[in-house]
Amino acid sequence: MAKQQDKFKHVISHAKEYGYVFQSSEIYDGLSAVYDYAQNGVELKKNIREYWWKAMVQMNENIVGLDSAIFMHPTVWKASGHVDAFSDPLIDNKDSKKRYRADVLVEDYVLKLDTKIEKEVKKAAKRFGDAFNKSEFISTNPRVLGYKEKGDAILKRLGQSLEKEDLADVKALIEELEIACPLSGSRNWTDVKQFNLMFGTKLGASAETAMDLYLRPETAQGIFVNFLNVQKSGRMKIPFGIAQTGKAFRNEIVARQFIFRMREFEQMEMQFFIKPGTQKEWYEHWKEARMKWHLSLGMGEDNYRFYDHEKMAHYADAATDIEFRFPFGFKELEGIHSRTDFDLKAHEEHSGKKLQFFDHTENKSYVPYVLETSVGLDRMFLAVFSNSLQEEELENGTTRTVLKLPAVLAPTKAAILPLVKKDGLPEIARKIMDDLKWDFNVTYDEKDAVGRRYRRQDANGTPFCITVDHDTLNDDSVTIRHRDTMEQKRVKISELTTIIEQEVSMKTWLMKM
Ligand code: GAP
Repeated sequence: MAKQQDKFKHVISHAKEYGYVFQSSEIYDGLSAVYDYAQNGVELKKNIREYWWKAMVQMNENIVGLDSAIFMHPTVWKASGHVDAFSDPLIDNKDSKKRYRADVLVEDYVLKLDTKIEKEVKKAAKRFGDAFNKSEFISTNPRVLGYKEKGDAILKRLGQSLEKEDLADVKALIEELEIACPLSGSRNWTDVKQFNLMFGTKLGASAETAMDLYLRPETAQGIFVNFLNVQKSGRMKIPFGIAQTGKAFRNEIVARQFIFRMREFEQMEMQFFIKPGTQKEWYEHWKEARMKWHLSLGMGEDNYRFYDHEKMAHYADAATDIEFRFPFGFKELEGIHSRTDFDLKAHEEHSGKKLQFFDHTENKSYVPYVLETSVGLDRMFLAVFSNSLQEEELENGTTRTVLKLPAVLAPTKAAILPLVKKDGLPEIARKIMDDLKWDFNVTYDEKDAVGRRYRRQDANGTPFCITVDHDTLNDDSVTIRHRDTMEQKRVKISELTTIIEQEVSMKTWLMKM
């Protein structure tokens, strides 16, 4: 646990030190759970967004994009169910006066059981050495089985109580597990109450005429209310999808874990409109397609798993999360929801407008069902960034900090380094940079010894360093160094674009899907 926390602290400090993420309004002591993306962060974020957009929109002829406004008519949120049902179960500790999400308190308790399991596994691995079989140990050791059973039973009961809106039982569970407030250490809890997560604002000049609005808590509703506009203007036939990326806002009470849970964040969502009755097969299709997209980034199969929901959101008949192994354990990265015809029907009822598709093959109109894929851009950022940050022991006994970002997502693709600041080498390096910058984000660095510059670029996540030396003056060759392997090769300047392109192009990476 302490090791996990140290790693997470390192992620946060590295993100700041290397210009990826800053606390919002830092000079005023910051604003809780709100963050700014700095010079490198904004590039990484843009690349993740583009990687998603290409996979979803460009590579699928039946998926088109949309950029709907953040402000929407307030009835949208009544129709979508967010006014009545978009809330978290909260509980206050009477001594510390601190407010918590009741379900998170219980989940954290279960997480501690997982940590106990990990400890048992480590102990046994030490004891049995090479003969240790982890999966056999986990499936047979009575203590591990006990922790697992206990955790599963707790989560099951929590899921059922939340589904039934039985908040008294959620409180009873907290009391039975003897969960104490992390601040005061007391078990003096209030009842559990629901708290709506939407931010309200006003539109209009005068207090009397102003209209109450909400900042959108998801981008999906902008897609639903434009369903017919897009279908008709694009002459789309079912099945088809509408994709959009954009900001969403939630007044999260447990806003912690850096950019994992923010109050202002960005989503990348796609609503796929299908014929009623086909939702099961499309659900499986998109589960598989989205997992393949994640795996194409090469961050390790072991770092992902599906978590099928017991408790559905108010609109879904099936739902799963793609979870990722963050520095604080497995947590939701993306949601895949079978949303039925809930949203379109609700908007039909509230707007009085028909939101249907005329199916020529069946010669009838129907309200399509919807399959949704929804991934948080900031969570993707955290997954990529935290997984890439590594401390490596080198053969010569030293260590290096290296940010092994998938090259396709790296903010800067190459750094051009003249070996010395004289003899015409800076001029050649600058010329190489001027040529490469038409195709890639590149940087120039001539300060310090070249070894230190390599380390700086490693920590910054730059996949290639290109060094110009005295031989370059005679043979038009440079040394290209790979960040991950530290391997160095002599190549012609004229080959650089092709070499870099092969390793960083979205095509190369998306073809792994
Ligand atoms: N339209 C469906 C929807 O919004 P969700 O599970 O509430 O579903 C989808 O959110 C994704 O948005 C999550 O899987 C997560 O990646 C991201 N997300 C949700 N709340 C977030 C928050 N407070 N901060 C950062 N990302 C968040």
